[in-house]
Amino acid sequence: MIKKVGVVGAGLMGAGIAQTCTQAGYEVVVREINQQLLDKGMARIYSAWDMMVGKGKLTQGQVEENRVRLHGTLNFADFAECDLVIEAVVENMEEKVRLFPVLDYALKADALILSNTSSLSITQMGAVTKRADKICGLHFFNPAPVMKLVEVVQTISTSQETIETVKQFAVSLGKTPVLAKDTAGFIVNFLLIPYLLAAIRMLENGMATRDDIDEAMKLGCGYPMGPFTLLDYVGLDTTMWAAEAIYEEYKDPLYAPPPLLRRMVISGMYGRKSGKGFYDYQ
Ligand code: 3HC
Repeated sequence: MIKKVGVVGAGLMGAGIAQTCTQAGYEVVVREINQQLLDKGMARIYSAWDMMVGKGKLTQGQVEENRVRLHGTLNFADFAECDLVIEAVVENMEEKVRLFPVLDYALKADALILSNTSSLSITQMGAVTKRADKICGLHFFNPAPVMKLVEVVQTISTSQETIETVKQFAVSLGKTPVLAKDTAGFIVNFLLIPYLLAAIRMLENGMATRDDIDEAMKLGCGYPMGPFTLLDYVGLDTTMWAAEAIYEEYKDPLYAPPPLLRRMVISGMYGRKSGKGFYDYQ
């Protein structure tokens, strides 16, 4: 029975996941590496709740209750009572393999550890713990409080019991789970990344303008956002890491990050979160 949830990382995804779990009624502890990042993540959640109150989706009383259930921390020891912890740190395997043994040590023996990674190997994260059967993926989509899908990712070591518990947990968050094997990109990014990279290549080759490509896919396919708006929304850095991870696994040129994407990331143009990407947000 899941009662208390831990979230590692209060960035774009971590904050959205912590918000989602808190709204579903769980006691939530969210951990960041320093006070400044923690404050930023908490402020993001509080402002989402203010927006929801403004739209009549939450009452002020519900926000007060949520605030009581949501705890920020800098300390892994505060995860000791958690039944399940969701990792949402930077998409870098070195970071993940450093983190997982720390979580393994900090958590009680029967707690589950889930990764929100979009394309890195969860098998590799499980392998550096003593509880590989209790480790799987739970991949949310941005914005996590709104998007209905989660990918539950099973490794060759994840037990069926873990998968069933995580699927039920996903449903309790108001999400629809789909089951994917632990292969780079799972379901959604395996299909989405080539589309996003193809849009960048079209722009690089001067085949159409940014605005026309966005307009075409919105109106021609009924997508809520065109590819460049979506790239900025998801983050160019996140997209590049996902593309690199899938490319690494399959060596399929479809997933090779185009030069423009790489240069924009090097220049700190991450999209909405940094104020500039394919569009300007300043
Ligand atoms: N908390 C709670 N509610 C929120 C919220 C948040 N943080 N952010 C937005 N919302 C709500 C709004 O209140 C609004 O509610 P309403 O319809 O009842 O008024 C609703 O979500 C829609 O928001 P907006 O009105 O601000 O804007 P839009 O109608 O333009 O919708 C969108 C925004 C939902 C983001 C829509 O444009 C969309 O679906 N875009 C595509 C997003 C997508 O494809 N995401 C997946 C990316 S891939 C990914 O994440 C994988 C990764 O691994 C790379």
